[in-house]
Amino acid sequence: MNQKTAIVTGANRGIGLEISKQLGQLGVKVIMTARNEEKGRAAYKQLKQEGLDVHFYALDVTNEESIQKLALDIKERFGSLDILINNAGIYIDGKNSILDIDLDTVRKTMETNVYGPLRLSQVLVPLLQVSGDGRIVNVSSGMGAIEDLGGLYPSYSLSKTALNVLTIQLADVLRDRGVLVNSMCPGWVRTEMGGSGATRSVAEGADTAVWLATGNVGRTGLFFRDRKEISW
Ligand SMILES: NC(=O)c1ccc[n+]([C@@H]2O[C@H](COP(=O)([O-])OP(=O)(O)OC[C@H]3O[C@@H](n4cnc5c(N)ncnc54)[C@H](OP(=O)(O)O)[C@@H]3O)[C@@H](O)[C@H]2O)c1
Repeated sequence: MNQKTAIVTGANRGIGLEISKQLGQLGVKVIMTARNEEKGRAAYKQLKQEGLDVHFYALDVTNEESIQKLALDIKERFGSLDILINNAGIYIDGKNSILDIDLDTVRKTMETNVYGPLRLSQVLVPLLQVSGDGRIVNVSSGMGAIEDLGGLYPSYSLSKTALNVLTIQLADVLRDRGVLVNSMCPGWVRTEMGGSGATRSVAEGADTAVWLATGNVGRTGLFFRDRKEISW
């Protein structure tokens, strides 16, 4: 079987680093990307030392130039792409509610959590289609699930709901083009974002994303947690 190639955004720490590790352990060639080159290279070296087939590419998901360059370089350097994991995300709402959140915070959150995954999907779909078994996995959150929405975490929730809509839209247009697109919620995970009091390890948080990327999933346009479909 041909070796698969994956891109992971925000791979320098937290869930993105763990997704890269688990994919690498399954024999996938992983292009780890990070906006901070120093931190990204340190994470990449860590996995390289573990014997995994990893590579590093500097990518800020809010930078259009960086995104366009990525698509060209991937084609030249690696020739093919099978998996895109849109993992990079920010949570900068603090304790603000929807009544007092400033628009700058909303804009920044949308840029990273929604427009980044949108642009990356747009530029990488041509390569993913060639794969024949392309996968896009959007790392979303239960905080974006409409049935659980409240007025707290305003821009984060807005962004993750929008990311889920992006999943449905992409899945629809790619349904007959050999690319499965799904959202997943990692649960509450012990990372810089989740904090030390979170209930899950990074290994548990990464598991469903890795399964959606490599497993015998066969479904598209859905939202998952713990390898099971959950409600939007
Ligand atoms: N932890 C949880 O409990 C939890 C729950 C539900 C969903 N999630 C989602 O899981 C994903 C990963 O979260 P995490 O817990 O691992 O968070 P984290 O530890 O804060 O890591 C976030 C990652 O995203 C990167 N990033 C942020 N902005 C970026 C940009 N513009 N370009 C490229 N990379 C960027 C960060 O890079 P820097 O190091 O440079 O900042 C970091 O690598 C996020 O999408 C998050 O919303 C997390």
